[in-house]
Amino acid sequence: MAPSAQPDDAKSSLPSNPDHLKFKRQIEIEGPNSTAKDPHYLPTWNPTQKYPPLEPFEYVERGKDADPSFKDLLLEGSTLEDITPSMGSEIHGVQLSKLTNAGKDQLALLVAQRKVVAFRDQDFTELPIKQALDFGGYFGRHHIHPTSGSPEGYPEMHIVHRGPHDTTFDTLFENRLTSTSWHSDVSNEKQPPGITFLYALETPKVGGDTGFANLAEAYNRLSPAIKERLHGLEAVHSGFEQAEGSRKKGGVVRREPVASVHPLVRTHPATGEKALFVNTGFTRNIVGLKKEESDALLKFLLDHISNGGDFQARVSWKPRTVVVWDNRVTSHTALLDWSSAASRRHLARITPQAEQPYETPYVK
Ligand SMILES: [Fe+2]
Repeated sequence: MAPSAQPDDAKSSLPSNPDHLKFKRQIEIEGPNSTAKDPHYLPTWNPTQKYPPLEPFEYVERGKDADPSFKDLLLEGSTLEDITPSMGSEIHGVQLSKLTNAGKDQLALLVAQRKVVAFRDQDFTELPIKQALDFGGYFGRHHIHPTSGSPEGYPEMHIVHRGPHDTTFDTLFENRLTSTSWHSDVSNEKQPPGITFLYALETPKVGGDTGFANLAEAYNRLSPAIKERLHGLEAVHSGFEQAEGSRKKGGVVRREPVASVHPLVRTHPATGEKALFVNTGFTRNIVGLKKEESDALLKFLLDHISNGGDFQARVSWKPRTVVVWDNRVTSHTALLDWSSAASRRHLARITPQAEQPYETPYVK
């Protein structure tokens, strides 16, 4: 299957300067009149950052033995409202940075169940960056993104940024009908991310929402005959195109890309739910099928996910919002629907890696 548009990971306003060797800093690109509210979070691209291949690590599933009453998470005075019946919740009155370990375990379970949860009025942006990273590190080893911008000195922090007057994407619709690009983050890694945190520093007044799709429900909707056939199949997820895209723009490639083979249907270690694990951003072909067969089956599955408005949720951003999703059972897409003319969109992602995807036998 032909590679699609690059996922959001590769789109963090990379300056299109073909100079491969220059250490680029967004703050210098903007100059002394920069209006950034959190300049220490502005992205930098350091070409001397080079990392060896990722080694396997032992992942601990925090949600597995968590108390399902959520008593250490949903503290007195907090409110939880569902965004849709099948996925997505919004919580007020909980300060994530103050959670006990029991509360964090319950957070992992709640996010596995609801797939994406938005927490409003959080203090992450006021904490030292290291403290925010330490919080996320409880959920798994930090993934260092191979191509994205990061705050200077913190390569583990993935920055999504589009500055005011950045016209990089204003021409997108000259060649594309939509910016929609469903993906699970860096699913090409051997141990792709699980519980993932993205928090907002600056956002447009309206626009720039993120769309999420519930891949467990996408699996559930399939007929028993198709479900049964998908079990045992594996797909190739490749990061080579993303790295190549960055190189072409003069961006960094901190670690050489890899491709991994993952089951088409994976099982979640905390909930036992099965979920489709394919996405437009990284999944290239199904192992053992001929090209036309693989292309047709992947197209069917990817169309099913992108057409499933009744198992998707759209999350709106406000400054001080932290959105937590489970990357193992969701796809998401950026929605580039706002003009760059007056608005900065600036978010920071903490991306703990999880287990190597595995499948359990089909159950009728
Ligand atoms: Fe993403």
